[in-house]
Parts: sequence; C-alpha cells; structure tokens
Amino acid sequence: MENIAPALLDWFYANRRILPFREDPTPYHVWLSEIMLQQTRVSAALPYYERFLAALPDIPALAGCEEEKLHKLWEGLGYYSRVRNLQKAAKIVCAQYGGQLPADYNALLALPGIGEYTAGAIASISFGLPVPAVDGNVLRVFARLYNDPRLVTDPQVKREFTARVMEHQPPAKAGDYNQALMELGALVCLPNGAPLCEQCPLGTLCRARAAGTALSLPQKTPP
Ligand code: ADE
Repeated sequence: MENIAPALLDWFYANRRILPFREDPTPYHVWLSEIMLQQTRVSAALPYYERFLAALPDIPALAGCEEEKLHKLWEGLGYYSRVRNLQKAAKIVCAQYGGQLPADYNALLALPGIGEYTAGAIASISFGLPVPAVDGNVLRVFARLYNDPRLVTDPQVKREFTARVMEHQPPAKAGDYNQALMELGALVCLPNGAPLCEQCPLGTLCRARAAGTALSLPQKTPP
C-alpha cells in the first residue's frame, strides 16, 4: 500500500482540535492527558485536566500531594487506581530521574500505570521518538484501511497491526503521525457503524471502503 502519512498529516494539520496538551506537550502534560483520556472523552476530561495541572503543576508536586487532595482532583473521573498509579510513578520519577520523565520507551513502560500505549504516546509526542502508540482508534483505522477482519483483541493480530502502523510512520514526525491516527479515529473513522468516509483523507486508499465493509470493522467477535 502507498504510504498514508502525507495525506494523513495534511489532514491533521488542517483539522486537528486545539487541545491544551497539544499546545504545550511536555512529558508530564502528555502523560496526564493520556491517563485521563483512557477512561473519559476529551470534552469531559478537559476541565479535570486544567484543574489538576493548576493544583499540581509538575511531577514533584504530584509526588508530594496528600491523598485526600489527590482523590478530590480525580473525583468524577473514576478508576482511582489510575491516579494512585500516577502518584506512585511520580515518586519513582523523583527518586530515580530527578523529577523528569525519562526519554526512553522501556524506562517509561516500567513505571506503574504506564502501558505500551501510554509509553508510546509520551515517547513519540513529547520526545519525538519513532515508536508506536496504538489505541482502539488506531486499531479501528487499520482494520478498515487493510480490510482486515481479524480480531484486534488477539495479541498476535495487534502485533501485526502495530507493524503496519510503523511501516507508514515518518521517523521525524512520529508524534504528529501517531496523534493524527488517533484524531482520524476520533473525528472521521468513527466506531459503531458511523464512519464519515466521504470526509476521510485516506478514502482512496481504504480497502474496506472499496469493499463496502467499513461498517462491520473492526470485528469484535470471532468470524
Ligand atoms: N485520545 C487519547 N489521546 C489522544 C490524543 N493525543 N489525541 C486525540 N485523541 C486522543
């Protein structure tokens, strides 16, 4: 398949939402936003994000925050294990890395609450490292782009999708490329049978669109 990055990035630069964590994508900002966005829509998370950073502007402040205040800042977002892990990781970052997140994918992955997706998002968006950041949005885009009916929940299938994502990634624009895929999934390549294919910058390349199968992808149960 032709490389998708040129058309995808053109679309992203023209259509991306202005989001506070994109205005100032420090490692701490990207980390916090990605953890919040795992469980909450962008519009609902934004006020929490702003309030959290106003109270705890850096990683040492997060590490030293007392539990009740931390709990209050997260109240309404749910899944409190996420904010507990956030603070646990912040304490490790202060003890081991001088209060700054390390510019290293595997070191990020070793921190509590940081999985492959979050490590990839921080490493690519904040540090410009050429690594993948594959979430449900990105899996959906690639299931359709390649008209691939396999289950994206299967770890082997996810590895193969991730390899395809990397085949198209421009190393010097890894963060923009990863965010553009997420943004395409959030704004155009929508789930639940509602993709806006006529607006898609990848429409001429999309094999599901050509085959008329976009509505039924990605497959959620075994064929
Ligand atoms: N959802 C989660 N992280 C995102 C990001 N960085 N951009 C757009 N949507 C997202």
